[in-house]
Amino acid sequence: MTLTQPIVVESGLQNLSESQEARETRSPNQELLPLTAKVNGDELEIGGCKVTDLVKDFGSPLYILDEETLRATSSQYRKAFKRYYPGESQVLYASKAWSCLAVCAIAADEKLGIDVVSSGEIKTALQAGVNPDKIYFHGNNKSREEIQLAVKSGCTIVADNWWDLENLAKLALAGVSHKAGEPTRVMVRFTPGIECHTHDYIKTGQIDSKFGFDPNSLKEVFTFLSKQPSLSCVGLHAHIGSQIFELQPHHDLADVIVEAFTEAIRHGLKPTEINIGGGLGIRYTESDDPPSIDDWAKTVCGAMVAACNKKKLPLPKLLCEPGRSLVGTACVTAYTVGSKKVIPGIRTYLSVDGGMSDNPRPITYQSVYRVLAANKMSEPLTEKVTVAGKHCESGDILIKDAQLPECQAGDILVVPATGAYNYSMASNYNRVPRPAAVLVSNGKVETIVERETVEDLLKFDRLPERLAGQK
Ligand code: LLP
Repeated sequence: MTLTQPIVVESGLQNLSESQEARETRSPNQELLPLTAKVNGDELEIGGCKVTDLVKDFGSPLYILDEETLRATSSQYRKAFKRYYPGESQVLYASKAWSCLAVCAIAADEKLGIDVVSSGEIKTALQAGVNPDKIYFHGNNKSREEIQLAVKSGCTIVADNWWDLENLAKLALAGVSHKAGEPTRVMVRFTPGIECHTHDYIKTGQIDSKFGFDPNSLKEVFTFLSKQPSLSCVGLHAHIGSQIFELQPHHDLADVIVEAFTEAIRHGLKPTEINIGGGLGIRYTESDDPPSIDDWAKTVCGAMVAACNKKKLPLPKLLCEPGRSLVGTACVTAYTVGSKKVIPGIRTYLSVDGGMSDNPRPITYQSVYRVLAANKMSEPLTEKVTVAGKHCESGDILIKDAQLPECQAGDILVVPATGAYNYSMASNYNRVPRPAAVLVSNGKVETIVERETVEDLLKFDRLPERLAGQK
């Protein structure tokens, strides 16, 4: 029996006649491919566009972002919080996952706020038209200039440490504010001491973390804030990690954060918001089994209501800030195959025109991805190959032991689930320019990020005169 493309069966691709309404009930983070992925003959289509046509027109590597999937995740989060939380709620998009104008603008259009961690992300969100009321500024080492920009723009500052609080107090003393006489909105981030099962590099909730106040220092923090009339402590924040498949850690977080919230009230503060961070995982391979957006929201909202009821606390405004599960599945990366190296009895390397510069996740976190041949979708999977990047580094392997149809130079490979932490962590290693990104929707395609050129990179080089013209 020949192998069929497992990814086709697992991703819902087999259901060609599925209506948009039916698609909306699927939780995209549980799929491998964007919701609009379809096979038409041999060809893979996303957002009504043939992947091979997109590569012909825009080149490769190419990030292909499916607008319908991004809007579906956004509205599923928003609606689930409305459904399960009787108080006010606000979903923020953690823009570190992919900060660019179009993604921020779609998130804002879907009524999400934005979490930012640098002046670059602040300016991107502002320029995309996000209301500063809905921008929350994070980071464990914000510069004074960044804090000043955020304060003046009217963003909420998530204080991570004493350095932030001291800078905020100094700026307030110097009369820096969004509106004269209005206090700056400050949230306090702390490490809740909750461990979860994910890669060590992306855990943040444990006590030994560079992020957030140690919970033992919270009393001191609240005392400090209670003496700062120009800083208004609007709430508490905690984020426990990323790519999490369990619901229990977020469930447990509710009691811990509500306890800290109550402590803030005991110190005379008037907090009204609780932010439980992001972290819901997505499916990169068939063996990944994350909960749905709806189940995650039901758990965190239910736990928060129960924790507040226990303390007889009116329900605070509940915020969350997912990144990966909003944008991860919405994007695929298309590559063109170049060289093929067959080492008989050992391995076949199929090299593509991108690699660790556009997807640093395999080399950084040993992340496992799937791959398919976008122009050979109905061919049997007869070859086991290792898909290698083009970079001068042995570890630049995108997918080990991938099952593909027989491929050669010119074939187009697609790696799913590359919307989160791919473009945003892309580099220029080996002076490789970063890829373009296009937005696809109903058969229409628009560029959202231009392809970088080598000239763009050379623009920042300066050649001291004494070295110029040397042979
Ligand atoms: N909020 C805070 C404070 C965060 O630090 C993060 C992610 C998020 C929200 C969003 O988490 P998400 O929903 O995306 O899991 N580069 C790594 C992921 C680093 C996550 C950093 N913080 C990766 O590629 O897996």
